[in-house]
Amino acid sequence: MPVTSHIGFGIDIGGSGMKAAPVNMSESGQLVVERFRIPTPHPAKPEAVADVVVDLVRHFEWEGPVGIALPSVVRNGIVHSAANIDESWIDVDAETLFSSLLKHDVVVMNDADAAGVAEMSFGAGAGRRGVVSTLPFGTGFGSSLFVDGHLVPNSELGHLEFRGESFERWAAASARKREDLTWRKWARRVSRYLQTVDALFSPDVIIVGGGASKSAENWVPLLEVRPEIVVAEFANTAGIVGAAMSSIRS
Ligand code: BGC
Repeated sequence: MPVTSHIGFGIDIGGSGMKAAPVNMSESGQLVVERFRIPTPHPAKPEAVADVVVDLVRHFEWEGPVGIALPSVVRNGIVHSAANIDESWIDVDAETLFSSLLKHDVVVMNDADAAGVAEMSFGAGAGRRGVVSTLPFGTGFGSSLFVDGHLVPNSELGHLEFRGESFERWAAASARKREDLTWRKWARRVSRYLQTVDALFSPDVIIVGGGASKSAENWVPLLEVRPEIVVAEFANTAGIVGAAMSSIRS
């Protein structure tokens, strides 16, 4: 794939799949071609995951900077948490690991932050000022926080504690499936979570995304919370798009 200034390349590393695609960064953040997915290796140790990253980049014959979204706190390229990935990631300099194999610049960031970047650039958050939080509801419970369009990275609001456990454990989309909750019961839990987020940050807008946003009509109208709630526009591709857009350091 020829590198041009408005095409970026993003990879989203999830618990079950690693997805990649080139992204058109100048118009609407659409994927240039369909994304390519390889199952996440198990155990998902850094070296095994890095090998798949190389395969994904080779698949598209991409030669250029790469943005990678990881379900972890990532500061200056170094991984600091591993709630839903192998613990051996902690303290790994992921940017150095990937860039030494790819021989190109790599930016690694939290996956929910990447999804937020996509929404703020081209999706439900485009043009929004003030405090905006994007909350992807999936297996994990990620979050992103923006102030006047600027990302406050690694907010990790899903790990706020509630009744002795994390909100992630109690209110993520995986909790609905695990406990076989009705949409109404699950929406009550999500409302409790959003009320806590509101009490702490008073967001103007909360963008709800992730896998559960595909069935938004079942639960979003049931939410009881003060801030405006809007449904994310990028469903499965948000992480790829946001990572690609962040791959060029400003
Ligand atoms: C992780 C977050 C991540 C979220 C979604 C959570 O368990 O702590 O960093 O954004 O899962 O993947």
